[in-house]
Amino acid sequence: MAKLNILEFPDPRLRTKAAPVEVVDDGLRALIDDMFETMYAAPGIGLAATQVDVHRRLLVTDVSSDSSAPYVLINPEILEKDGVMVSDEGCLSVPGYYEEVERAEHIRVRFLDRQGVSQEMDAEGLLAVCIQHEMDHLDGKLFVDYLSEAKRPRIRTKLQKERGHPSARRDLEDLSRGSRAQVEVSRAIRRHRPDLRRLARGSPVAEAGKTRRQEQLSASRDRDAVGI
Ligand code: NI
Repeated sequence: MAKLNILEFPDPRLRTKAAPVEVVDDGLRALIDDMFETMYAAPGIGLAATQVDVHRRLLVTDVSSDSSAPYVLINPEILEKDGVMVSDEGCLSVPGYYEEVERAEHIRVRFLDRQGVSQEMDAEGLLAVCIQHEMDHLDGKLFVDYLSEAKRPRIRTKLQKERGHPSARRDLEDLSRGSRAQVEVSRAIRRHRPDLRRLARGSPVAEAGKTRRQEQLSASRDRDAVGI
């Protein structure tokens, strides 16, 4: 087994649309094992083949807190989706960023397992979110694509700056004081978001469900910054 390199935004290879897996053989199973090792080491709760620069329709996930629920989905297809849930998502390819994304709360998905056998499964909550997030990767889509136009260049600039990219440093210097102040404000809002949410959305039933899911998410995050 080997740990694989994870591509990071804005690497253009993350925009590749993956092709279906045609043969499930020992070579593919070795890749699956490497993807699990890479995901657990990150640590993360999901990883798509696209993120390790293999452009085949394949993803791994484990949303448990003790690495006890690994799933591999080959050529996944969503058969049904319903409900809406909003949760803070992160991504191993966009390290350090968490933003709210709206997804279906429940999905029914068909896929091949690691033996190449067709399976169907229902997923809800965090697992459903994770599978939808990874399936986006297979289509070359990132969770930052759901964010506002204004926010995306700032994420790109910050990540490039962290890697010492010279043009990114220039971009950052070009940012007005105003937009820097805005970033600070949005950080402050994020810190207080649970309180704001409680104020903004009154429904106790919705809030109870949401709180449970947020607990699941933050429990996973306690393992360290978690990405999917
Ligand atoms: Ni991701």
